[in-house]
Amino acid sequence: MGSNSLLQCLRILFSLPTFCLFLVLVVTKVEGLTRHYKFDIKLQNVTRLCHTKSIVTVNGQFPGPRIVAREGDRLLIKVVNHVQNNISIHWHGIRQLQSGWADGPAYVTQCPIQTGQSYVYNFTILSQRGTLFWHAHISWLRSTLYGPIIILPKPNVPYPFAKPYKEVPIIFGEWFNADPEAIISQALQTGGGPNVSDAYTINGLPGPLYNCSTKDTFKLKVKPGKTYLLRLINAALNDELFFSIANHSLTIVDVDAIYVKPFHTDTLLITPGQTTNVLLKTKPHSPDATFLMAARPYATGLGTFDNSTTAGILQYESTTKSIKQLPLFKPSLPPLNDTSFAANFTKKLFSLTSAQYPANVPQKIDKRFFFTVGLGTNPCDQQNQTCQGPNGTKFSASINNVSFIQPNTALLQSHFFGQSNGVYDPDFPYNPTRWFNYTGNPPNNTMVGNGTKLMVLNFNTSVELVLQDTSILGAESHPLHLHGFNFFVVGQGFGNFDPNKDPKSFNLVDPVERNTVGVPSGGWVAIRFLADNPGVWFMHCHLEVHTSWGLKMAWLVLDGKLPNQKLPPPPSDLPKC
Ligand code: C2O
Repeated sequence: MGSNSLLQCLRILFSLPTFCLFLVLVVTKVEGLTRHYKFDIKLQNVTRLCHTKSIVTVNGQFPGPRIVAREGDRLLIKVVNHVQNNISIHWHGIRQLQSGWADGPAYVTQCPIQTGQSYVYNFTILSQRGTLFWHAHISWLRSTLYGPIIILPKPNVPYPFAKPYKEVPIIFGEWFNADPEAIISQALQTGGGPNVSDAYTINGLPGPLYNCSTKDTFKLKVKPGKTYLLRLINAALNDELFFSIANHSLTIVDVDAIYVKPFHTDTLLITPGQTTNVLLKTKPHSPDATFLMAARPYATGLGTFDNSTTAGILQYESTTKSIKQLPLFKPSLPPLNDTSFAANFTKKLFSLTSAQYPANVPQKIDKRFFFTVGLGTNPCDQQNQTCQGPNGTKFSASINNVSFIQPNTALLQSHFFGQSNGVYDPDFPYNPTRWFNYTGNPPNNTMVGNGTKLMVLNFNTSVELVLQDTSILGAESHPLHLHGFNFFVVGQGFGNFDPNKDPKSFNLVDPVERNTVGVPSGGWVAIRFLADNPGVWFMHCHLEVHTSWGLKMAWLVLDGKLPNQKLPPPPSDLPKC
């Protein structure tokens, strides 16, 4: 419609200039801008904790560059691969409405970009505002390939909260002295758990609580009496994080690029794959003190994990004394396995549900699914070999006991061109095939099944999905991430989900809307979404080690009948396998 009227407009340009100018303004306002970025994937030497190593980066930056756009803008991001690794970039949380070819998970929506090749990711940001992030979506390369996506409201649309004085992205990551690619490939060979990271980082910096790291500390310099918007992102590979700033309380206003009912908290929990916008109100007068902002893990599994603490420093400007003379306050963070904190915290999140930002929770459900998520085992590849997983097996992980095998061609491509035979099976199970006491005594047989199975949905199916943690090899919180959709978190609880009793207490009015949710350790979570986006959409645990072990699957959402309900053909530069 816009381009037709533009043509018309050009034709009469000289007779009706004012009208035309008006029309051009209207068109740009509705359609947003097109913003161009170039991502050169290259190696860069970086030193942390007195270890220097060559890491894969975007444009030599670590963390990577910020993408800044407004709701409604189109992004054209050209990724050029100058390194030996295959590369693919995912725009985590972007809905990708009818732009599934730009989603990015390797071997799901695209073949990876090979050395010397490039690919232009082309997508529009619709109905989202807040913070998301981009990261590599192949193997463990996202340990160094990640950066913020900042989505501002449309021009002249205010935030539904007081305008902040300044906005600051805070992206958490994980630093490994060794090469993470070597760590995961070795672990997958031996079957044991991978080595853990050496530090967590805030904007790439571990902070003063680690050896040889004081100079690598993120400092947030603030003025008294102002409101700052912190855009928190958890880009760590394998760890959920608690975060707190000493002597300051935070107001949560947005999660996963959706506004929420604001609430105050001293400490928050953020899983890998989640983002949280918080308002930080500084003290009315410069206090003669500095304050640590710290993050450390929330960990529930039986395996080892990096139990260290990353910290940055909140520093007030205009203090008369030098920083070194000032007392430093430290926040107290919950115990490392504080599951009740996790449950209480997530219960405080609600959609804003204002007239402008309603929560369109699916009320009538077409399809109900029940998926168990958890760990398991696979036998050693060779018969008389002993592996380093439980009882000489290999660690594995699954959804409904299917451990996902990554194909060597892209699922979306093979679907689109009718060549899915031998690539995937469209028979992902609706339920676990055998009932067991999911959160009770685990069964003796912990072996998983293996396969590349998809769940097929008709266009516009409204879905309810219950994700049930299992206690196989230990109950554990799993941050499940769904590509291509936001979902509403309508219920959660501990123990086994009860289909007769639990749905009665579902919140269908103002549940939080997001793209990543923690399945409670030893519990379940229920989500709802409308399958209004044709394509192949990955769903997986955002703890990278669990994804590597197979805790992943994909939904295939078919085209609808109308032209605007179909996935367009792929761009001509879509990488080949
Ligand atoms: Cu942020 Cu499929 O992931």
